[in-house]
Amino acid sequence: MLFAFALLSLGSWLGRLAYAYQDLSDETLKKLPGPGDDFDIKKGSILAPILVPRVSGTEGNAAVRQHFVDFFKTHLPEWTISLHNSTSTTPVSNGKEVPFVNLIATRDPPGTAEGDVSRLALVAHYDSKYTPTGFIGATDSAAPCAMILHVARSIEAALAKKWAATPDDDLDAEHRGVQILLLDGEEAFKSWTDSDSLYGARALAEDWETSFHMASSTYRTPLDSIELFLLLDLLGSKGPKVPSYFKTTHWAYKHMANAEQRLRKLGLIKSSPNHDTKMAKRENKKPRAERPFLTEAAKGDDAFLGGFVQDDHVPFMARGVEILHIIPSPFPQVWHNIEDDGEHLDMDTVEDWTKLVMAFTAEWMELDGFFDAPAKKLTVDAEKSEFEIP
Ligand SMILES: *[C@@H]1O[C@H](CO)[C@@H](O)[C@H](O)[C@H]1NC(C)=O
Ligand SMILES: [Zn+2]
Repeated sequence: MLFAFALLSLGSWLGRLAYAYQDLSDETLKKLPGPGDDFDIKKGSILAPILVPRVSGTEGNAAVRQHFVDFFKTHLPEWTISLHNSTSTTPVSNGKEVPFVNLIATRDPPGTAEGDVSRLALVAHYDSKYTPTGFIGATDSAAPCAMILHVARSIEAALAKKWAATPDDDLDAEHRGVQILLLDGEEAFKSWTDSDSLYGARALAEDWETSFHMASSTYRTPLDSIELFLLLDLLGSKGPKVPSYFKTTHWAYKHMANAEQRLRKLGLIKSSPNHDTKMAKRENKKPRAERPFLTEAAKGDDAFLGGFVQDDHVPFMARGVEILHIIPSPFPQVWHNIEDDGEHLDMDTVEDWTKLVMAFTAEWMELDGFFDAPAKKLTVDAEKSEFEIP
C-alpha cells in the first residue's frame, strides 16, 4: 500500500515537473489567424448559429449543441466528442426533469493513454437565460463559445504538426492535451442559488470525481487530468477589465497578461488605439495609452482577498481543480439585459479576446514554429522563415 501511494505521488509530482510554457515569437503572434467572416453576427458560420435563445431543455439549446457537434465533425474530426447528460427539476419546470447536456471535446497526443494526459481545459457555457423572453446572451456566453471553437480550429494543424514531429518517446513524456467543455445549465431559471444554477457543471464535476482511470494511470480521474480550467464568461463588450481572482493560478494569469501586452506592442489588438491599421492612418505616430483587458498582472501575493464570481468553475474548484477565470469586473453593462445581443457586441474586442486566448493556448501547448504563414503571404514568408512548408 505504501509503495503504491509513493508511486502515485511521484507520478503526479513528475507530471507537475514536466510542465513548461513557451512564449510565442513575434512572428508567430503575427500569424495567428483571425475569425474573418465566421464571426459575422448574421451569417457567420461559427457565431451566428449561437446567437439564438438557447435555454436548457429547449429546441434552441439542442440546435446550438448540434451546431457544435457539426463543427467538430466537419473541421476537427481528430477531436473526440462526447456528451455528458444529466437531468434536474428547476424552479420553473413544475416538477418535470429538464435535460442538461454538456459537450466535451478532447484532443490528446496520438497513442497516449486516457489517464496519462494532462489537459488545458477551455470552458464556456452555451445555455442562455430563461428571462427576459428572447434573451440572446451574446457576451453570456455565445461569444466565448465562438472564441473557443475558432481557437480549436486554428491550433489543430499546429498541434498535429508538432505531434507528428515529436518522437514517440517524447510524446510519452509530454502527454499534454486540450479539452473543450461547453457547459449547459449555467444560468439560474429563477434567481441564483446553489441548486438553481450551474446544473451542467455540478453534474459533470460530480461524475468526474468518481470516474476513475486505470490504476496505473498518472492521473486518477478526468478532474485530476485538468491542469488548468480556463473559464471564459461575459466577454465581448468594449473596455473589459479582468482581475486576477486566484493566487494559485496568478502565474498563468501573468502569462496571459504578458501575451496581451506583446500583442498590443505589435499593433495586433484591434480595439486598441494603436492597432496597426489605425497607426497607418495617423500622422502623429506616438503610441496612445493602452487600456489592458488584464489589469492585475502586477498584483502581489498578499492582495488576494478571496473574492470571486460564482460561475461554472465553482464545483470544479471545490474538488481541487486549478482555475483561471476570465470574466470582467464590473460585468458588461448589457449583463442579463435584453440588449446582450449580437448587435451590442464590440466585434474588435471579441476578436481581441479570441487572439489572446489563442496565443495563451498556443504558448501552453508550445506550438511556436508550427503555425503556417498566412495564406496571402505564403510565398514571401516561405523564403525566410524556418516554418515548415511541406
Ligand atoms: C445524451 O443526450 C443527447 C441529447 O438528448 C442524446 O442524443 C444522447 O444519446 C445522450 N447520450 C447518452 C449517453 O445518454
Ligand atoms: Zn448569465
